[in-house]
Formats: sequence, structure tokens, C-alpha cells
Amino acid sequence: MLVRKHFLSTPLMEFMQSPDSPAKVLLAVSGISKNFAGRKVLDNITLRVDEGKIITLIGPNGAGKTTLVRIALRLAAADSGAVQHRSGLRIGYMPQKMHVEPTLPVTVVRFLQLAENFSATQLDATLSQLNILQLKNHQLSAISGGEMQRVLLARALLRQPELLILDEPAQGVDLAGQAELYQLISKISKRDNCGVLMISHDLHLVMSATDEVVCLNHHVCCHGKPEQVSNDPAYLDLFGPNTARALAVYTHDHNHEHDLTGNIKTAHHE
Ligand SMILES: Nc1ncnc2c1ncn2[C@@H]1O[C@H](COP(=O)(O)OP(=O)(O)OP(=O)(O)O)[C@@H](O)[C@H]1O
Ligand SMILES: [Mg+2]
Repeated sequence: MLVRKHFLSTPLMEFMQSPDSPAKVLLAVSGISKNFAGRKVLDNITLRVDEGKIITLIGPNGAGKTTLVRIALRLAAADSGAVQHRSGLRIGYMPQKMHVEPTLPVTVVRFLQLAENFSATQLDATLSQLNILQLKNHQLSAISGGEMQRVLLARALLRQPELLILDEPAQGVDLAGQAELYQLISKISKRDNCGVLMISHDLHLVMSATDEVVCLNHHVCCHGKPEQVSNDPAYLDLFGPNTARALAVYTHDHNHEHDLTGNIKTAHHE
């Protein structure tokens, strides 16, 4: 069932206790508010990520998505509210942007080993999984934007995370690469029972693998299963009918096909 923004007032402890098993909850944020220079960027946000679940955060530029994940990671402080991590939680984080000093002579493999000395086997396996093994000895400053995204994802995965937090992982990646990247994230989540909190503007690409979409514009406008959110008036208000129509291509019930304008092309009677 689609739940509107009022789900946000649930107290944290209650929220942490997932109805089926509290042990499955990896991350819970509750009642998070944040102001910058007197401007409210986040207003009473609550969300939870359980083991093996993919939560996708969508919203327009400046909506507060990155601020929210930085607070969830405890990299930034909230003005009010609480953040709770499961004890000993291993998190792999892929930031939206990372400044790499262009004059710094560091290869991809050295960069990945800065935080921890991973084994060659582990490094090669992760790089192969992301189709960037050939970049291993390239200078970090010389790789392309899309390649850098894969390197940053490799960096997050090497920690063998229980929770992956990905801030626009597919930015700068070409179209075929985007679909591939999202499929890989979904495969990893299933294989390792890893929770994923992901910010994305590509709802049409992520929706089939997303368990819950949270639509954020300073407050949570709506949340629920992707197909429910894409029909929600709050979502339509935020993204406009054109985006919603394009998305409808992906949400139909598979007994007919649409073109991108929403016109039905063929109907299959089963
Ligand atoms: N450290 C800061 N100091 C002042 N204002 C900030 C700071 N960090 C973020 N903001 C402001 O808070 C708002 C939300 O920023 P945030 O980066 O969270 O948005 P976002 O939803 O991630 O946007 P985008 O889709 O463009 O990445 C923006 O207006 C931004 O300018
Ligand atoms: Mg952002």
C-alpha cells in the first residue's frame, strides 16, 4: 500500500523493529531535519533500509538527497532526529562527487588500496565484475567520468558491505552501461543479501529492481513500490506528466505495449 508522508512520525525504536525481524534492519533514520543558513533542506525525514532491500531516493536537484545520505552515514549532523546503524555495520559508500587532485600520480589499483590493502585476487575479481580490469594500472587522473564511477563503485564493493549507499552511481555512464550497472547492483544485493540505499534520477531503469521508492523534495512527498509512486499525484506534481508518461512504458501490465507517448501499439490477449 502506498503510504503518504505521515509515516514519518514513527518513533525510531518502533521503526527499527521491523515487524518480521528487528535483526534485519541495517539503517534507520528518524525525524531528520536540517537547515542551512535558516533554510529548511530536510523536514522530518524517516526511512529504513533492511537486509537485501533496495531503496531508491528520487527528487529534483537541491531536494536534499545528498544531505540526507550524508546524515545517514554520520558524515554530517542533523539539527534534529536520530540515525541508527546495526551494530558493526559495514557500509560501502559511493559519493556523488569526489575531487581527485589532477597532479596526484596514483593508479586505479593504488587508489583502491589507499584505505585497506586488499588482496590481488579480491581486487581483480571486483574490477572484472565491473568490466574495468583493464584500467587497473591506469592513472586515476586520466580515466573518463563513467570509468571513474565504476572505480568508485569498486571501492565501495571491496569493503564487502552489508549496506551500500550510492549517490547517483550511474552519472556520466553511457546508456548501455547504466542498465548494466543497475543490474549488477541488484545482483549483488540479492547474492550478498546486501541492503542498498541509492539516489537515482533514472527511475525507469531502477524501478524493476527497487523494493521501495522514496520521493524527496525537502520532505517525503510519497513513497511505496515504484509503480505506485509513479502514479502518485505528488510524484506527478514533482516530475511533470512527460516523465510520468515515459515511465508508464515501464510500468504497464504487460498485456500490451506502449510507445513513449503512451499510445497503445499492440494488445496481446492471453
Ligand atoms: N554544506 C552546505 N552548506 C550550505 N548549503 C548546503 C550545504 N550542503 C547542501 N546545501 C544546500 O542544500 C540543498 C540540498 O542539497 P543536496 O546536495 O542535498 O541536494 P540533492 O538533492 O542531492 O541535489 P542534486 O540532485 O543536485 O544532487 C541545496 O540547496 C544545497 O545548496
Ligand atoms: Mg545530490
